[in-house]
Amino acid sequence: MSTSPQASNNKLHRILLTGAAGGLGKVLRERLRPFAEILRLSDIAAIAPSEGPHEEVVPCDLSDKAAVHALVEGCDAIVHLGGVSVERPFEEILEANIKGVFNVYEAARRHGVKRVVFASSNHVIGFHKQSDRLDASAQRRPDGYYGLSKSFGEDVAQFYFDRYGIETVSIRIGSSFPEPLNRRMMSTWLSYRDLTSLIEKSIFTPDVKHTIVYGMSANRDVWWDNSAASHLGFVPQDTSEVFRDKVEAQPPVAPTDPNAIYQGGAFTAQGPFGDK
Ligand SMILES: NC(=O)c1ccc[n+]([C@@H]2O[C@H](COP(=O)([O-])OP(=O)(O)OC[C@H]3O[C@@H](n4cnc5c(N)ncnc54)[C@H](O)[C@@H]3O)[C@@H](O)[C@H]2O)c1
Repeated sequence: MSTSPQASNNKLHRILLTGAAGGLGKVLRERLRPFAEILRLSDIAAIAPSEGPHEEVVPCDLSDKAAVHALVEGCDAIVHLGGVSVERPFEEILEANIKGVFNVYEAARRHGVKRVVFASSNHVIGFHKQSDRLDASAQRRPDGYYGLSKSFGEDVAQFYFDRYGIETVSIRIGSSFPEPLNRRMMSTWLSYRDLTSLIEKSIFTPDVKHTIVYGMSANRDVWWDNSAASHLGFVPQDTSEVFRDKVEAQPPVAPTDPNAIYQGGAFTAQGPFGDK
C-alpha cells in the first residue's frame, strides 16, 4: 500500500508524471522535483534521459493496460498529463485519452495509489459562451472528441472516488503557455508558476474527494469561479494583464469568429474528420 499523500511534508517518495515529454511535462519535470524523492517520467514519445537518482524514465503507451499497470507500481501519486492534447479523430482520442485514463485509474486501484491529479481541460465546457460565468457544477458542454475524452476522464475520477476512495483533483486547464498568445487566452491563461502551485495543492491537500478546479491565473476578465475548490488554498500569483498591450496589438478578431464567441475558441469549429 502506498503512502497517503497527506502524510508527509509536501514530499512523497515517488510521483508518476505521465506526458513527461510534452510541453507541460517538460516544465513540470523541473518544477515537481521538490515534491518527490523520485519522479517517474513516462511518455510514448522520447524523453531526455534521467538526470540522476531523483528521476526514472519509464516509456509507456497509455493505451496498453499491462504496461500502465507496471508503470504505476510503487508510485504514491500520479500527475496524469499524458494523452492527445488537441482535437483529433475519435479513434486517436479513444486510445490515448479514453483507454488511457481508464488504464491509469485501474492501475491506481490495483496498486493502492490514493491520489491522482488529472489534466482536464476547458474544452469540457468549451461550448459555453464567453459571456457565461461557470463554476465547477456548470453543465459540461464538450467542444469535440478531445473535450469529450476529458469529460469522460472527470467521470472516471468521480467513479473511482465513489467506488474505491481514490481522490482526484481534475484541473480544467485553461491555456498554460509562457504567455497568452491571443485575446481569448487573456481570460484562460495559466502561468507555469500558478500551474505548479495548483498541482502541488492538488497532490498534498487532504480530503479533496473529487475536486474540479479551473486552471487559470489571476486574470482580469475571467469566466470561471473557483469558490467550490477553495479548500485547495490555490491563490494564483500571476496575471495575463502584463501581456495586454502585446496581445491587443494583434489584429482584432471578428465577432463571428469562434475565438470571440465560445470559451473553447477554435476547438468548437474543428472536424468533422474522415468524411471522404
Ligand atoms: N497546455 C495547455 O494549455 C493545456 C490546456 C488544457 C489541457 N491540457 C492538458 O494537459 C496535458 C499536458 O498538455 P501539453 O500541452 O503538455 O500537451 P502535449 O501534447 O505537449 O503533451 C502530451 C504528451 O502526451 C503524450 N502522449 C500522447 N499519447 C500518448 C499515449 N498513447 N501514451 C503515452 N503518452 C502519450 C505525448 O507524446 C505528449 O508528450 C494534456 O493532457 C492536455 O490535454 C493542457
